[in-house]
Amino acid sequence: MTTLITPRDIAGIVAAHGLPALLQRLEAAITADFRRWGEFDKVARVASHSGAGVIELMPVADAHRYAFKYVNGHPGNHRLGLPTVMAFGVLADVATGRPEVLSELTLTTAMRTAATSVMAARALARPGARSMALIGNGAQSEFQALAFHHGLGIDRLALFDVDPAATRKLQRNLAGVAGLKLRVASSVADAVRGADIVTTVTADKRRATIVTPGMIEPGMHLNAVGGDCPGKTELAPGVLAGARVFVEYEPQSRIEGDVQQMPADFPVTELWRVLTGTADGRRSADEVTVFDSVGFALEDFSALSLVAELARGLQLGARVDLIPALADPRDLYGLLGVGERPGAEQAPGRLLAA
Ligand SMILES: NC(=O)c1ccc[n+]([C@@H]2O[C@H](COP(=O)([O-])OP(=O)(O)OC[C@H]3O[C@@H](n4cnc5c(N)ncnc54)[C@H](O)[C@@H]3O)[C@@H](O)[C@H]2O)c1
Repeated sequence: MTTLITPRDIAGIVAAHGLPALLQRLEAAITADFRRWGEFDKVARVASHSGAGVIELMPVADAHRYAFKYVNGHPGNHRLGLPTVMAFGVLADVATGRPEVLSELTLTTAMRTAATSVMAARALARPGARSMALIGNGAQSEFQALAFHHGLGIDRLALFDVDPAATRKLQRNLAGVAGLKLRVASSVADAVRGADIVTTVTADKRRATIVTPGMIEPGMHLNAVGGDCPGKTELAPGVLAGARVFVEYEPQSRIEGDVQQMPADFPVTELWRVLTGTADGRRSADEVTVFDSVGFALEDFSALSLVAELARGLQLGARVDLIPALADPRDLYGLLGVGERPGAEQAPGRLLAA
């Protein structure tokens, strides 16, 4: 049997553990897996592009478990009443190939992306960072805001979105959070002014330049989340040129990240190196750092593993027979219960009758 974890189960996990604690556990799980980077079989994700968006498959495995995520990115989906990003994924046993968990990953992606952003900022932002600009106030934004508030102590947020309704929704959802001050900014430049950290989490299928060099102040850390596809960027090349840039998995980020705009030899540092102490993070208070986030399969591996463990502990998730249970593993046909008697093809098979 395979365990099916639905968005309702994820809501149950959040209700039981609390979102701050869950985000913290996700960050710890992702950090632990990034620190054993060499143990994973990694590949850049496989993307199918269309005029409307992208559909991607993201596999990764260690010696024991294999995970993949299906995820899309369709910036115009809101006009059809659908989220921009929708995802699900599988955790399987490497020894047998048996899929153990089939899980929703739409909510889980938002949480793991925010946890990864905080993991990067913990290593790269100035110690004592308290203020953040949050550009793009859509589906991911609450998770980013809360992860930075609870995880890093950000207590002032400047919000900006080209759609004022998105900002009103974010304000509404964050209204009850104690110790978090919100300011609605009039422009990107207004939001970014004086911020310790700048998070961009916009959705636009084009080479957008949300943040330009004139907005950058010494010591800023940029958490660039929304530029995650060929032809889809958020930072002007001059911002990258003036910063030290950190990525998840270089072969994927060169294609999908904001660094797609830079020459192939533009220096980037993979984050796992900073987390294992084999590369420097921030070197001085004045340095500008960029986490050029695109989302890497390992983050979903960590999140799937944690969510499966927490669901088990709370007895959440349905047991479904995704894979046939066979008395004789080589008699797959027999499971259909047809063909034994003349005319039996029309009779309901064992699977249908069950
Ligand atoms: N790096 C990762 O791991 C990762 C994970 C999940 C999502 N994403 C990306 O994050 C982005 C946001 O995802 P979402 O689910 O919140 O999408 P969403 O559609 O719910 O929200 C995007 C918001 O960006 C706003 N926006 C668009 N252009 C803007 C601009 N020029 N200035 C300011 N705001 C602008 C939109 O009005 C919208 O409110 C997407 O591009 C998605 O692909 C990245």
